[in-house]
Amino acid sequence: MNNPELTKSPGPIGVFDSGYGGLTILRQFRQLLPQYDYLYLGDNARAPYGTRSYEVVYEFTLQAVKKLFSMGCHLVILACNTASAKALKSIQERDLPNLDPNRRVLGVIRPTAECVGGISKTRHIGILATQGTIMSESYPLEIHKLFPDIVVHGEACPMWVPLVENNEFDSPGADYFVQKRIGNLLRKDPEIDTIILGCTHYPLLLNKILKYTPRTIKIIQQGDYVAASLKQYLQRHTDIEALCTRQGSCRFLTTESVEKFEESASVFLRDKIMAERITLE
Ligand code: DGL
Repeated sequence: MNNPELTKSPGPIGVFDSGYGGLTILRQFRQLLPQYDYLYLGDNARAPYGTRSYEVVYEFTLQAVKKLFSMGCHLVILACNTASAKALKSIQERDLPNLDPNRRVLGVIRPTAECVGGISKTRHIGILATQGTIMSESYPLEIHKLFPDIVVHGEACPMWVPLVENNEFDSPGADYFVQKRIGNLLRKDPEIDTIILGCTHYPLLLNKILKYTPRTIKIIQQGDYVAASLKQYLQRHTDIEALCTRQGSCRFLTTESVEKFEESASVFLRDKIMAERITLE
């Protein structure tokens, strides 16, 4: 191990997001794999990441990964598309060999891309995501590696994460932004029959999204697919699985105020939770 400060003892599975969005992934992890311990980290103080540069998203994400490693995680899931698009590859290729080659960091884009081949009939797919994820072209790249015949169009939704982070996802004001972006996407390609919610915050806007999407279009939420992919990963990588503790617990960390996080996260998870404030550097 290159970093003597990192423990070799088993620990929880780390789940990271810029804010609350990753809770939609965590919820599915706990449903499908309730036996494991999870350590959730939301960088709420610096969310949203979606409009930030590559350098900054990479820097913030690396800080979060290091924090989760230092708290005992051997496996960290970036439950954030923006971080997966802008930081995952660099962390896997450049940083992990120095930090600890035996630890793993995984993202959410690849498992989501894998599922679309069996779903779309028209072979025309839409992606709704943050500006950073759309600009990175990560979805078309990953989908075309697996399904070269699929036509992919994306639409950036810069206001959607702020609506969720500020608890406005159910408000009448959210309708305008949701209708506008779905309309733009379907005008780009009227043959779209499948839309991927390529941001972990967006399932919170699902009611509004369904309201403005024709019934014939299938909306894909990532949680189920990412959880199924994690399950398979742990079955295939028994060395990593052996380093994941199993008490069925969940701890929550936030870089913002604990009260705000506890209130919003409890709404998201439909469960009362307690959080701890940490700083990232
Ligand atoms: N949940 C993050 C994602 O999946 C939101 C990014 C942001 O903070 O803008 O992309």
